[in-house]
Amino acid sequence: MDSLLNGQACDQLPLQDRGLLYGDGCFSTLAVYQGHPLAWRAHWERLIHCADRLAIPPPSYEALLAEVRQLAADQPRAVLKIILTRGSGGRGYQIPPQISPSRLVLRHPWPDYPAAYVEQGIALTVCQSRLARNPSLTGIKHLNRLEQILGRREWGPPYAEGLMLDTQDNVISGTFTNVFFARQGKLFTPALHQCGIAGVMRAILVKTAILLGIPVESDEFSLDDLCTADEILVCNSLIGLWPVRLLHLPASFQSKSFSVGPIACALRQSMPAQRAIVPYSA
Ligand SMILES: Cc1ncc(COP(=O)(O)O)c(C=O)c1O
Repeated sequence: MDSLLNGQACDQLPLQDRGLLYGDGCFSTLAVYQGHPLAWRAHWERLIHCADRLAIPPPSYEALLAEVRQLAADQPRAVLKIILTRGSGGRGYQIPPQISPSRLVLRHPWPDYPAAYVEQGIALTVCQSRLARNPSLTGIKHLNRLEQILGRREWGPPYAEGLMLDTQDNVISGTFTNVFFARQGKLFTPALHQCGIAGVMRAILVKTAILLGIPVESDEFSLDDLCTADEILVCNSLIGLWPVRLLHLPASFQSKSFSVGPIACALRQSMPAQRAIVPYSA
């Protein structure tokens, strides 16, 4: 069995679960390498932070870790998705007084992205779908991902990711990644005070850059800022980081090329998580 619900082998969710009815919950997706969940502690901390923001009681650390270890054991490479919902109950939005959260751990096969994405970079296009600005939900990896689903519908090969802007033209993230760009030896990443997901890999990348002495700034940035960058990178817990070799701007029918630069190389070589996710790039 490759899925657990509250610690029991299970492949079904009760029809009244609020995660299904309202997207009332949060999740985290992590990489497994040689039987080990990578960056487990960071995923745990993000999960309980998101649960706290949504006022969902946190799961037991020991129980969840045991379940993660059970599904990770003996897996050379796999993906684990941990989902926490508020549980079953209530026909409307109001939360019933007695409710116990559902804790799911699902295992998926490892996605085999082309090695060239890491070595030579990806082509990135800009999505038309926008992200809504909402300070009360920003940063949270909650179960309502309709914006990313609409964004993801907009691109396919030769692009490996789509860039999403908010409703005020600020660059926020990729459809499934966080975004960085480098200029004159500095690293920049969109601030997430209005929308976006506070990615585990984003935090690892920021820490790694600081350890390497690369200054990191988080602010509001436009597409023009990206176009005038020296390097662009996207990251998440499954891909590590991918440099961008081509930024396609559909509205102006233009594209801008980049090379895999010194900042991407330095970060890639110094990130333990990246080396485990993509061993051949070490
Ligand atoms: C919209 C979005 N932003 C950022 C991320 C990166 O999150 P993490 O680094 O925790 O994998 C993801 C991951 O799926 C995502 O879907």
